[in-house]
Amino acid sequence: MASDMTASPIGSDLDEHRPRIGILTSGGDCPGLNAVIRAVTKTAFWLGYQVVGFEQGFEGLIDPVRYRVLTPQVTSGILVQGGTILGSTNKGRFSARAGKDGRAELAEGILDKVRATFDALRLEGLIVVGGDGSLSTALQFHEAGLPVVGVPKTIDNDLSCTAYTFGFNSAVLCCADALDRLHTTAESHGRVMVLEVMGRHTGWIALHGGIAGGGDVILIPEIPWTYENVLAKIVERTKLGKNFTLVVVAEGATLPDGGLVAEQSQNLQVKLGGIGHVVAHELEQRVDQDVRCVVLGHLQRGGGPTTFDRVLSSQYGVHAVRLIVEKKFGQMVCYDPPNILDASIAEAVGALRTVDPLGSAVVTAKAMGICFGDTPGYVCPFVMPK
Ligand code: F6P
Repeated sequence: MASDMTASPIGSDLDEHRPRIGILTSGGDCPGLNAVIRAVTKTAFWLGYQVVGFEQGFEGLIDPVRYRVLTPQVTSGILVQGGTILGSTNKGRFSARAGKDGRAELAEGILDKVRATFDALRLEGLIVVGGDGSLSTALQFHEAGLPVVGVPKTIDNDLSCTAYTFGFNSAVLCCADALDRLHTTAESHGRVMVLEVMGRHTGWIALHGGIAGGGDVILIPEIPWTYENVLAKIVERTKLGKNFTLVVVAEGATLPDGGLVAEQSQNLQVKLGGIGHVVAHELEQRVDQDVRCVVLGHLQRGGGPTTFDRVLSSQYGVHAVRLIVEKKFGQMVCYDPPNILDASIAEAVGALRTVDPLGSAVVTAKAMGICFGDTPGYVCPFVMPK
């Protein structure tokens, strides 16, 4: 039931006697959002709460207030569904704008309107399911004294304080599946195939997807690379009898000249995309092979969650309710394997979590001969005993 509060007093369709929890999903969607909504609803139901799901991210909080009452019946069957039944947006009145000191800042008067909605609905807490931009907004709510908690969502896996954001594993599967398919056609035609994947300014999807899908070259923002080194890898493969090469490039990888392939957008974030074609074009000038490019794009955000993301999302949803019950506001749930814990939202959005060029995933990849474009040939990433 969607409620347009222009017709009846706000909250008049809610149960007077039950405490209330709000939830909203904000920013770019990803697999697992519905699994979080379902887990929150089920847990809150058993604890005697009523759950109010705001529509279209933060937008549903004000002018006009738009929400639906979530029950176990309403959320039944959504565990495996992609997208979000509440809708989401990464634009609009709450999208990140630079304040005086460069920090995200909401336009004047917005927080007062949000507070009025919290008061009118007598919300005991609001669960914000979002990435760094949405959680920065949640942080501003918290600093203004509103009771919020966060759930880390993004295919990019770039939030601090958590080993994994939900949605990442599903995006990695999509990338690996694409590489499996590209593998056969690349081999049949003896081609270099360049696969551009998302991830914003981090290389998590490219790194994990590249390893899982058997990529030969992985280019990520965290490791500077050159065309000459990539070319050397292609030549090396040809000498080994491999007439094809799979190159995975993260959308946010910097070109050898230091440039990003991006467009400026209205909010704080640039719109990335297009590096795959640039790399493919440059390689085509340098190799005696056909080169083709595939941009995986929003396929990485679509479809249902993997089993890993279903479990992670369920755990995150339950822990978010627990944070509200325990009044641990300003906290974000996080995964510190094997435990689900929580950390402050401020810390989580304070710094981007990037790939460690010396971390175990990169070391694993390099040891197997995967090229990151930083050396002209194989260099063992660990010290060999003399
Ligand atoms: O943050 C998730 C993400 O999919 C990024 O990987 C990508 O750069 C961006 O969102 C794309 O956003 P949009 O849906 O606005 O094109």
